[in-house]
Amino acid sequence: MAKRIDVSGLTAYYGSHKAIEDISMTVEPRSVTAFIGPSGCGKSTFLRTLNRMHEVTPGGRVEGKVLLDDEDLYGAGIDPVSVRREVGMVFQRPNPFPTMSIFDNVAAGLRLNGKYRKSELNDVVEKSLKGANLWNEVKDRLNKPGSGLSGGQQQRLCIARAIAVEPKVLLMDEPCSALDPISTLAIEDLIGELKERFTIVIVTHNMQQAARVSDRTAFFNLAAVGQPGRLIEIDDTERIFSNPSVQATEDYISGRFG
Ligand SMILES: Nc1ncnc2c1ncn2[C@@H]1O[C@H](COP(=O)(O)OP(=O)(O)O)[C@@H](O)[C@H]1O
Ligand SMILES: [Mg+2]
Repeated sequence: MAKRIDVSGLTAYYGSHKAIEDISMTVEPRSVTAFIGPSGCGKSTFLRTLNRMHEVTPGGRVEGKVLLDDEDLYGAGIDPVSVRREVGMVFQRPNPFPTMSIFDNVAAGLRLNGKYRKSELNDVVEKSLKGANLWNEVKDRLNKPGSGLSGGQQQRLCIARAIAVEPKVLLMDEPCSALDPISTLAIEDLIGELKERFTIVIVTHNMQQAARVSDRTAFFNLAAVGQPGRLIEIDDTERIFSNPSVQATEDYISGRFG
């Protein structure tokens, strides 16, 4: 069966700086994959190559292949904007559009995609807010600014905005690192629900979080400062946290470095 994501020989640069080298991995549909590893080993860079956001950074370029359902995202004639619709992203700091209402934040991506009737928009916004476990908290103030919500609510609003366009994949770069423990648990619960419908790849600094939310865990590391980041191993999360194949993974998860 086709993999949802199939990366081979992916190397990414910022100008002449090679940030990550020769990464290959596959991701199954409707699974959660966690990326762990010390800071600077290229987790965010690699994540952003999966929806062609890396090249938005000046000097950002890649070599290698990323297939989404067998289609090469870097193939000739592929529109990066349509890639980003299929592969959505949630960032470390919740970033709702500050001047927009809660409703308009969720509707924003849909409006970019074309014309919707008001009733259709209402339905999708409600469904997306429900999907992000936020509906009950905001249904009476949909016209208030998204920036008036708490941090945890804002992050769920950003998730609602991302899922409103029905992407195949949702990328999350440390989505809980700016949140309190209760909001963090709410997002972790949500990830468990969202994986029924989406394929999720999450970067996290929190080992317990990786162990709680993910099916597969990928450990990235640097051979030395200044060297590009590499994928050291990827395996079932249970195995990575109980009996990893590589000593460096063992050292990292047991807190010996990083
Ligand atoms: N915008 C950028 N311009 C130049 N170098 C960058 C940029 N962003 C990240 N890097 C470099 O790429 C490498 C990987 O960084 P990053 O992907 O942010 O790692 P991580 O997310 O694992 O902490 C680091 O050496 C970092 O300095
Ligand atoms: Mg990062």
